Amino acid sequence: MAQVELATPADGTTSKSERIKAIQEQTWIDYEAGETILSRLQWMFEHPLTFRPPCALIVGESNSGKTRLAREFQRCHRPPESEADETEETYPVVFVETPPGPYVPDFYGGLLRAVNAAFQPTWSRQRKETQILDLFPRVGVRMIIVDEIHNILPGSRDQRTIFLNSLKFLTNSLRIPIVAIGTKSAVTAFQTDQQFGNRFEPLQVPNWEPNQDYARFIFRYVRAAGFEMEKAFTAKRVTDDIHAKTKGLTGETVKLLRGAMYASARMGVEKLHPSILEGLNFVSVRQRRKKASSQAEML
Ligand SMILES: Nc1ncnc2c1ncn2[C@@H]1O[C@H](COP(=O)(O)OP(=O)(O)O)[C@@H](O)[C@H]1O
Ligand SMILES: [Mg+2]
Repeated sequence: MAQVELATPADGTTSKSERIKAIQEQTWIDYEAGETILSRLQWMFEHPLTFRPPCALIVGESNSGKTRLAREFQRCHRPPESEADETEETYPVVFVETPPGPYVPDFYGGLLRAVNAAFQPTWSRQRKETQILDLFPRVGVRMIIVDEIHNILPGSRDQRTIFLNSLKFLTNSLRIPIVAIGTKSAVTAFQTDQQFGNRFEPLQVPNWEPNQDYARFIFRYVRAAGFEMEKAFTAKRVTDDIHAKTKGLTGETVKLLRGAMYASARMGVEKLHPSILEGLNFVSVRQRRKKASSQAEML
């Protein structure tokens, strides 16, 4: 489904600023676990309209690549520009972030904004709901993705139930799938209600293992940013080192590689050498979490 777009290869002719620009590009690199989730979403997307549409809960650690996956899915379903008539805009995949708390009217406001609907934020929950039910089928919405669902956790149990019920209500009334995305703590919120546990199929975004697939992801990411790797950089020891620093999280791996590429580009070096990793000021995930928890203890 997804295509890797290769930037200009490192051939010595690319200028430093072009090189830095290529590092900043948000390239998408497909990977097996991601593809598995994307195909499951595709299956849900193609599912005929039904009274109980299949729903999913994408779960993974922070910075594991959950949002990026959803955005990639949305990008693949964007209607082609040429066909987009200004009077008839379609939004096959609506992406919305959970408000910072289980506030249904704010959530509905986010949904309406996502399809550029005219509405007043002060409208009642009821009025927004009616607008969604009326408008979404007309603008071709076939799936709703709700990111950061763990944002509802600080609310009371009743508020959380009301929020989750609004998801259930929307999927049943619009007869389209809803995909929620969150960290592990979100699963607990879903499982408190057995109906939700059954209805939202959990899809795990895993951390990488320090194996060949991970090494290939690193290689392809670096290549897509227009860089090359010294042979020494491809050694298992280096992959293991990157894995240890990033806990095998896709987002952390990307951050580390970008840091390494910036440092190399600034030095005018076109190939990544393992020594560049030693000079990086990269605080590993483990160190960062340790620091955060010791600070919390001090409070
Ligand atoms: N498949 C991928 N290819 C390239 N970059 C990725 C990929 N997956 C994630 N990233 C990058 O990793 C970072 C974190 O991803 P994100 O989706 O925001 O994580 P999460 O939502 O799980 O916290 C982002 O900068 C994103 O662009
Ligand atoms: Mg995210």
